[in-house]
Amino acid sequence: MNRLGDPEQVEGDELERSLRPRRLQDFVGQESVRDQLAVSIAAAVSRGEAMDHVLLAGPPGLGKTSLAQIVAAELEVAFVQTAGPALERKGDIASFLTALEPRAVFFVDEIHRLPRALEETFYPAMEDAELPITVGQGAGARIVTLPLPPFTLIGATTRSGLLTTPLRDRFGIQHRLEHYGADDLARIVTRSARLLDVDIEPGGAVAIARRSRGTPRVANRLLRRVRDYAEVRHGGTVTEAVAGTALDQLEVDEEGLDRLDREILRAVCEKFAGGPVGLSTLAVAVGEEPDTIEDVYEPYLLQRGLLERTPRGRAATARAFAHLALEAPGQRTLI
Ligand SMILES: Nc1ncnc2c1ncn2[C@@H]1O[C@H](COP(=O)(O)OP(=O)(O)OP(=O)(O)O)[C@@H](O)[C@H]1O
Ligand SMILES: [Mg+2]
Repeated sequence: MNRLGDPEQVEGDELERSLRPRRLQDFVGQESVRDQLAVSIAAAVSRGEAMDHVLLAGPPGLGKTSLAQIVAAELEVAFVQTAGPALERKGDIASFLTALEPRAVFFVDEIHRLPRALEETFYPAMEDAELPITVGQGAGARIVTLPLPPFTLIGATTRSGLLTTPLRDRFGIQHRLEHYGADDLARIVTRSARLLDVDIEPGGAVAIARRSRGTPRVANRLLRRVRDYAEVRHGGTVTEAVAGTALDQLEVDEEGLDRLDREILRAVCEKFAGGPVGLSTLAVAVGEEPDTIEDVYEPYLLQRGLLERTPRGRAATARAFAHLALEAPGQRTLI
């Protein structure tokens, strides 16, 4: 997954930054999350206090990092960012927390990958803005409690199920981002096209939106590819027909599935007779990491009703067989 140094990835990262919504009003969709955050922000501002800690959960590319940055911008406070796997020792956390400006947002991405032993360091920090540390060694060692500035921890996770209950419970505000509908994605594509100076017709935006797996990051990536195609082959304007042809070439189908999505479904349907099949077996069959399948691919397939999770593994639905134009095994029960 990590393609550091890959020119397309680097270009993609830059693009992502330039297209990132900066304020709550630029953030399209997720109305209920946005409205609730607006209330939390306004309340914190009027009290002049740090906002309560926030946990943002949901599949990749739906706007967790963007929202965390927006919260800091709306609160007009500093934004400090790190990620679970980057915090290896208690001292790493201590140096971040003691250096925070009052009321700053401290963003911990992939918080489910925080080493277990470090989780407890966050408990007193989150509850009482205190950090107990051990000073000295052996018989002379003692515990000193450092006072911390009030701050807002924003944790982002693609797998909230992996967080321990004590950590999860310490987030006063918890939101889950869901896949976007085609209307919202079309608005995102239109907004991005404007920022990138791409000439796009409404039908072109809708065509891209429909095939973006419910994910703004995918929508922006497809817009960029479709723009290339439109410029090279069609004088630049992204019409519905141009978008359709370009997306066919990119092997993104009508359901928004890309090649690996289809490979996963095909494996379940054909190699495993519709399932159920265990995640790791399925991962080997398609040559991907189980985590990637679970975090990136599966949520959309589940949401589209193409895949089901059963106690014994993943199973293809009748829709999946129909989508792949395969004959479904008759009278099979999916339990
Ligand atoms: N609601 C939105 N409105 C407009 N653009 C959005 C929205 N959500 C996401 N985007 C776009 O999608 C891109 C990816 O969003 P972001 O990086 O915030 O996702 P993420 O949930 O943090 O993903 P990951 O789990 O991979 O870290 C952003 O750069 C932004 O351009
Ligand atoms: Mg992110």
